[in-house]
Amino acid sequence: MALLKIARMGHPVLRKVADPVPDPTAPEIRRLASDMIDTMLDAPGVGLAAPQVHESLRMIVFRVLAMRSGGESVEPTVLINPVIEPLDDGMEHGMEGCLSIPELRGVVPRFARIRYRGVGLDGEPIEREASGFHARVIQHECDHLDGVLYIDRMTDLRYLAFTDEAHHITEALEQQEGRD
Ligand code: NI
Repeated sequence: MALLKIARMGHPVLRKVADPVPDPTAPEIRRLASDMIDTMLDAPGVGLAAPQVHESLRMIVFRVLAMRSGGESVEPTVLINPVIEPLDDGMEHGMEGCLSIPELRGVVPRFARIRYRGVGLDGEPIEREASGFHARVIQHECDHLDGVLYIDRMTDLRYLAFTDEAHHITEALEQQEGRD
């Protein structure tokens, strides 16, 4: 098990457009994926993109925990050279954090329903449809491959907060949703 150093906001690697992985089955890619999963689980986090560990490559790891998604769970997955396609125009606002922006949370609009494609470590294609929290994680991690951080997607910076104050924002958001 190897834990990798996580780049924090301000490091230029987080702002680069990452390169495609030429050979998803290469041993060094398998090693990197394994170390990224260890690093994600240790943090702990729900997703990690290669640029966050100083590797400017188009690959992500993620997992979906049932308690966060309202039932659905997805085991740690490696997705190489991913592509996202929204299934419709529906957007949802939800709270996000990022291992590269420690101790903060923010409310970010994301497509509610997406299809994503990519390749696994075995070189086989992966294609799934996702909604809700699962769709949010994929969009957040894929943004990292284009040098985009969640704060760039925020439409109202009043909904940015320290983690231990974020419950105030969750409550405000729920009240607002109740009004709409
Ligand atoms: Ni992130």
